[in-house]
Amino acid sequence: MKYPKEYLQEIKTRLKISTVVSKTVSLKKRGKEYVGLSPFKTEKTPSFTVNDEKEFYHCFSTAEHGNIFDFVMKTQNLKFGESVKYLANLAGMRPYTFSKEDEIREEKWNKYKLIYAKYVEFYHQDLFKNPLAKEAKNYLKKRSLTIEEVKKFKIGYVSSNESFKDKIFNEFIESEIKDTGLFYFDENKKKYVDRFKDRIIFPINNISGDPIALGGRILNDNKYLAKYINSPETPFFKKGSNLYNLDLTRKLSNNINNIYLVEGYMDVVGLSKNKVENVVANLGTSLTTRQILTLNQFFQHIIVCFDGDESGYKAALRAAENSIIELKPEKEISFLFLPDKYDPDSFVNEKGKDFFENFSKSNSVPIHKFIFDHYSKDMDDNPSSRAIFEKKLRAISSSIKDEFIRKYVLEYFLGKVYELTPNTNLKYKKNYTRPTKSLKSTQNYYNETKSLKAIDIKEFSFLYVLLKKPELIRDNINLIENVNLFSSENKLLFEAIINQTNNFENIDIESLKIDQSLISRVLKYASVKHILSKNLNDNQKILEILSELIRDLKNYELELRITDLESRFSKDLSEATFNELKELKKQQKIN
Ligand code: UTP
Ligand code: MN
Repeated sequence: MKYPKEYLQEIKTRLKISTVVSKTVSLKKRGKEYVGLSPFKTEKTPSFTVNDEKEFYHCFSTAEHGNIFDFVMKTQNLKFGESVKYLANLAGMRPYTFSKEDEIREEKWNKYKLIYAKYVEFYHQDLFKNPLAKEAKNYLKKRSLTIEEVKKFKIGYVSSNESFKDKIFNEFIESEIKDTGLFYFDENKKKYVDRFKDRIIFPINNISGDPIALGGRILNDNKYLAKYINSPETPFFKKGSNLYNLDLTRKLSNNINNIYLVEGYMDVVGLSKNKVENVVANLGTSLTTRQILTLNQFFQHIIVCFDGDESGYKAALRAAENSIIELKPEKEISFLFLPDKYDPDSFVNEKGKDFFENFSKSNSVPIHKFIFDHYSKDMDDNPSSRAIFEKKLRAISSSIKDEFIRKYVLEYFLGKVYELTPNTNLKYKKNYTRPTKSLKSTQNYYNETKSLKAIDIKEFSFLYVLLKKPELIRDNINLIENVNLFSSENKLLFEAIINQTNNFENIDIESLKIDQSLISRVLKYASVKHILSKNLNDNQKILEILSELIRDLKNYELELRITDLESRFSKDLSEATFNELKELKKQQKIN
């Protein structure tokens, strides 16, 4: 049993060797190659190199070398067949099973490719030779295409040639021809006709460069015929898995990090004519996750550049929401919006390559920013609309598969949401700005006590002052009476202190019926202790410190109530809850 050469070649075409190796060896780019520590030997200086163009790896310290199959066999201790299965799966290909069915499919696939190859070649040549193709030639000229692009993309024109059709029908059996979708059976005329008759054809190749489908454009726009048609889906052509021009651009990927994704065939051709070659098109359907994953195999940065009209914008938004799910660390997806009325083809033809590339550099928007900006445009300045907005952003970020990307996209969204609402959501603010907001003189001491929550330290400081200055407290009992502590342990200690003070007893720590380990924690971790010891005889200063602490504790309590109300508010949007919330926020501002 032998795998067909083409099946193995397709695996190699789809998977860069550096992508496969970097799953187990950390690689750094050095010129055209990658280097890393050899997986075959323990070493400190990298002697292991990977070359994508030559499709092999070489280890200078062990002289091990080979292709992706060898690498997987050696590092994972697999047999050849197992490594093929593993890599085919990684490349998103069907496993090869050597059944009778597979053999038949293989046979059909070879015929399919052959018919397409002949068809494309014939009508490409015919464009130059056939007098009936003159109008098509003029049309291409009018659109400022040169022979170079026509040849590079093997553009053709189907002027319908009966003798060529007869030749195809003699050479292949009907079912093989039907599979290609190039002809359909006309019930009236009782014969097969060219689907692409009177159209300019753009061959769509698979990643290995075999034509497997066509796109066809009419010469004169008219409202009865679709401007473009594609081959129908066939056993060997699935729209969502292919990209126009991927076969040519993937060869550039060893030297270029960016890939432009455009809507139309003519955008690819027009950019290519202007020497922007790293471009693919998604064949008039919305962008699929398969297409994103394929592009990411080869390129770090996908720049989606659709037409500058409303339908282009809508398509871009759909593409963004589909593709953010697949975003991976070290990969980027951006969106480039052209001025209204332009598409990439007309834009680059008018402005040229340099302008296009500079425009792209300064105007591409990262995917998360595009999504945020889009939804924030829709949002009105009222609680209900804002709630919907925040929920939408949370839903989008939680759909992201990679946990790190998910975390940082959510962080970005929430950061922006809180910029819009600076006085709300103090739960967020607390974590990021609260510790530095007040009691600046003591904040340096926080570092020693990182394992405690900021609120614990605050409460400890409050209790510390009470324990150290009982006589001062007794004279200012009104100041502390209404303070609420959060931790129940701290609360008990607070009550015990108040009781003793109210009974005009001096505070005797030993006699407090309180867990002594709590007291020693208070004495140890209260961040206020250093500043207090410096000012032990300055009662005015101590009262100031105490007031500051009390204000912080009250604010914390307010925050908790606001957070609680806000979570209820997102479920019931009642007037009463809203007013209560407003009142709390006002108090918070006053504090
Ligand atoms: P456009 O109408 O933007 O194509 O459609 P274009 O490349 O700018 O066309 P020209 O410049 O007038 O020749 C973008 C893509 O959408 C698909 C095609 O894949 C096209 O390239 N499309 C468009 C269709 O499938 N059918 C249509 O009727 C129109
Ligand atoms: Mn267009």
